[in-house]
Parts: sequence; structure tokens; C-alpha cells
Amino acid sequence: MRGRSGGGGLIFCGALLLLLLIADVGESSNGDHQPLARIAIHRTLVALNDNAYVKASPSILGLKGQNSEWVTLEYASSNPSNDDWIGVFSPANFSDSTCVPDGTPPDSKIVPPFLCTAPIKYQYANYSTPAYKSTGKGTLRLQLINQRSDFSFVLFSGGLSNMTITWTSGYGINEAEPFVEWGLKGDDHVHSPAGTLTFNRNSMCGAPARTVGWRDPGFIHTAFLKELWPNSLYTYKLGHKLSNGSYIWSQQYQFRASPYPGQDSLQRVVIFGDMGKDEADGSNEYNNFQRGSLNTTKQLVQDLKDIDIVFHIGDLCYANGYLSQWDQFTAQIEPIASTVPYMVASGNHERDWPETGSFYGNLDSGGECGVLAETMFYVPAENRAKFWYSTDYGMFRFCIADTEHDWREGTEQYEFIERCFASADRQKQPWLIFLAHRVLGYSSATWYADQGSFEEPMGRESLQKLWQKYKVDIAIYGHVHNYERTCPIYQNICTNQEKYNYKGALNGTIHVVAGGGGASLAEFTPLNTTWSYFKDHDYGFVKLTAFDHSNLLFEYKKSRDGKVYDSFKISRDYRDILACTVDSCPSTTLAS
Ligand SMILES: [Fe+2]
Repeated sequence: MRGRSGGGGLIFCGALLLLLLIADVGESSNGDHQPLARIAIHRTLVALNDNAYVKASPSILGLKGQNSEWVTLEYASSNPSNDDWIGVFSPANFSDSTCVPDGTPPDSKIVPPFLCTAPIKYQYANYSTPAYKSTGKGTLRLQLINQRSDFSFVLFSGGLSNMTITWTSGYGINEAEPFVEWGLKGDDHVHSPAGTLTFNRNSMCGAPARTVGWRDPGFIHTAFLKELWPNSLYTYKLGHKLSNGSYIWSQQYQFRASPYPGQDSLQRVVIFGDMGKDEADGSNEYNNFQRGSLNTTKQLVQDLKDIDIVFHIGDLCYANGYLSQWDQFTAQIEPIASTVPYMVASGNHERDWPETGSFYGNLDSGGECGVLAETMFYVPAENRAKFWYSTDYGMFRFCIADTEHDWREGTEQYEFIERCFASADRQKQPWLIFLAHRVLGYSSATWYADQGSFEEPMGRESLQKLWQKYKVDIAIYGHVHNYERTCPIYQNICTNQEKYNYKGALNGTIHVVAGGGGASLAEFTPLNTTWSYFKDHDYGFVKLTAFDHSNLLFEYKKSRDGKVYDSFKISRDYRDILACTVDSCPSTTLAS
């Protein structure tokens, strides 16, 4: 079916526009397709009709400083159909004159005007009023976030005695000076300046990011808070000093500074991949694509007092070129990301695009080619366009790879990975963790098994000698949307038969897939391997708890209930890490 008539529109709170529309919604598909891509927005027509209307209440959002609000819609159409949908558009003043050609031939059957911007979200008009088709009237409740009025989200990421705070606003460098007012809780506060970045449509590598998915990103501000006192509680507020001398302030947030590297204290780390975003009001979701996402977020928010740092290892929001989805995603994670460091890795849905230097030349980023992730998420990488970095958190050393750039021996990234492993002082930082988006180690996902590799091609051939030489304890991946844990392993062979209670040296690395953050689940092969110790086809995340230098607890929790479904412990003395095992020390030595 095709868009052929339309409904009325209403300007909404100056920034959002609600339209009752009839549109072409494609059939459901599996995999990683952005739900907004299912609307053929190029072929949707708007014909304002006097008999149709959409009314919203409240009509102004954020009167009490809320970041999101539920809005009740009432609407009517004189020609109702089960295909009618309500779309939320922002900015509201879009015009068909701004449509950018995407290189596809025009469809002669469609007459202008076209919508040239995808909605932020949509829902069928009969979603909560099944009788809409016969009565022509309906109501709907939608949750709307305050679309970048002053501040749209707060995100911070940690590092050695530094914190980095990122937010977006509508103020460019000529309109206001961005800064963070911060200090020890209850103590004097200081101002630290923030930088401002943005990008334009031409920064995108292709459609839909360049066409219907484009949305002006506003301005992205990043401030660096330095010389923090380890473990101390800080409060902070974001500010803009306007050119007329007045100030705009955010609400107050707080965070605890990271422990000093090597510090002996309780340290709790949550890791998952592929979460995506979801809508609390059920919109955009006829594909049930990321329905686990809200559960994961909810569990982490509930557990926040028992979490010190979070790693979201790639495939962050699956905007796939529909840029409004980044605002929805950052609004969803803000309660977590404004309180504990929210560290990220790059995945195929952030980066991959043909002829742009990504290791895999597929279309998964929808034309974003990494620009969104690299601008909005600060990571302590030497070059933000090459998303590999290391970060220390107390007794942990994390080495984060970028699987969307070449990691094989001889590359710049391979050298970085070796340097990261080699520079960990295992007496002080005994827990050495390797993180990457794609599975470079082991996975029983159907598609890997079909290839006969059980992993990303070339993955462990390149890296296993580094994992073994530097005695990496655990390697954790996303990309495959389920949970799996292997034995401690080297070259396909289990190096330790224990499953739950490891004492002394592992003699290999435990590989974990934690890609069940929220996006549609992936199947396991029925083939059984000796190395796969635990598989779960469900949504979940993993948590590492370091009690001290000798005791680590690993847990896998389901997002649906937050309960532990798999776990193991490692207990050892640091001297166990120094001892040689197979291929972990040079085969000959002159020492005697
Ligand atoms: Fe992925």
C-alpha cells in the first residue's frame, strides 16, 4: 500500500509536530533494521484535511524542568484506515524544499509534496483505540523527551583521576560559553570550560543519514574535570553563559571519582553490547527489534548503587542513519550515564560504510560512518576516529578494541592491543579484561558455526598469542545477541576443566559473549563444542566484582528480572599470573 491521503497537523510546543498520516509501512523483517526505515517516508503524502485533527495535552513540555513527559493525543479522521499512523516530527518547521536527493530515480506515480524527514517516532492510530477504523476517532499516549531545549543528556566517562562530561544543546560558540560547575560535594565549586563540536549533513557518508534520517545534531559539548580525589563524591551542573551575561543551568548531578589504579576496594563493573533503545509507549516497535533494551536499562537503574562503571561494547542505539534516535537513546541511558562512567566501544552499527575505511564495507551504520558515535561519546583514544583505547579502574585494566578497524598482526591496532596488555602491572591490576564488539574469540552463533569458524574470521588467529602471552583473564564481546561463556581456552583447547571455582592460574582466557543487551536475539547452532560451558538465548548483561587483588566474581544476569543465571569465581595469588604456562613465556631463557 502507499501513502495516498492524509490528515491534519498541529504545531506542538514550538519544536515538535504531530501528524496523522497514511503511509507505506514495509513488512516486518528480522535482523538489525531500524524500525523507522520501515516507513517509506519518501513516498508518504501529507494532504491537510479540514476534518482531521490531532490535539495534544499538555501542549507545552518541560514546564517543571522535566526531561520527558507523557502526552495524551486525541485525533480524528473522516477517512480512517488501519494503516493510519501518528508521527512525531522535530524540528516542526520542516519543509519539502529541504529534501535532499539520495540518488535514487524519482517515482513518477507520486506527486509532491513529500515529507523529507523521518519522524522521531510513530504509532498506529488504532494502537490503543481498536475501533478507530469504524469511528474515525482515537486517543493515544506517547512519551516525549524534551528535544534539546537547553540540555538533552549528560554522559560522562572515566579515566585516571579525570572525568569527561558530554552534553548537547542548541547553543553554538557564538551564542553562549559552555562550562561545568563542579566540586566536592558540600565544598566550593569551580568552573571548567567545555569544547563545542557539531557536524553537518555532508559529514554523513550516505543515506538515510544524509537524507530522510538527517536531523540537525545541535552542539555537542565536552568538558574535562581533572585532578579528582579518588573515591570522592562530586556534584556538578552544566551551564551556558549567554552573550547577554545571563546563565542557563541544568539540574545538579553527582558522581563518585574512580578509584586509584591498583587501589584495593570493592569494584563493580557492568558490561553488555547491542542494547539499542526502545520506547516506553510502545511506538516504533512492530518489529519487536530492541524490546529487551528497556528491561536492561531498568535493571541497571535499579542496581545503580551497586554499579561503579558501565561498558556498552558497541551497537549502541541502532540509529542506523536516523539521527533523532540518538536523542532518544541518550535520554534513555541518562540516569545511568550521568551517575557512573558510561564507556563505549564501536560496533558495526556505529561505523560500517563502504569506501570509508571501515574494516567491513557493509551498510550497517546507515550512512553515519562513525561520525555520531565519535562526536557524542568521548573515549580516551589517541584518535577518536580509531576507537581503541585502554582504561584503568582500580584493580582492573581494560583494553578495548575497535573491531570495525583492522586488528591483525602488523596493524596499528594490533600494536596498541599488545602495548595495553604489556603495560598492565599485574600485582596492582591483576584483572586484565579484553573488550571488543565483534566476537574475536569464540561463539556458537549459527552464522559463525555455518562458516566453520565459531568466531569473526581472522579473530583469534591474530590475537590468541597475545591473550595467552599476557594472561588475559576474560575477553568479552557483543555483536551476537545472546549469552555464552567458554572454558579457559587457548587454541581451541580447554586449559582448565573447572567450571565455577577457579583457583590459581587459568592457563588460558575465558571468552564471553554478552550481546543480549536488547536487540533481537540470535540463535545458537545445535552443534556442541567442548569449550562452550554455558549458553542462554535471552536478554542480559554481565557484572564483574573485584573484592580484592585475589578474588573476582563473574555474574550473568537476565534483564527480565536482574537475577543471576550463571557465575564463576577466580581466586588466586598474583604470583600465579607471573608463572609460565603454555606459550605464555619465551620457550627458551638464558636465566638459570
Ligand atoms: Fe554488531
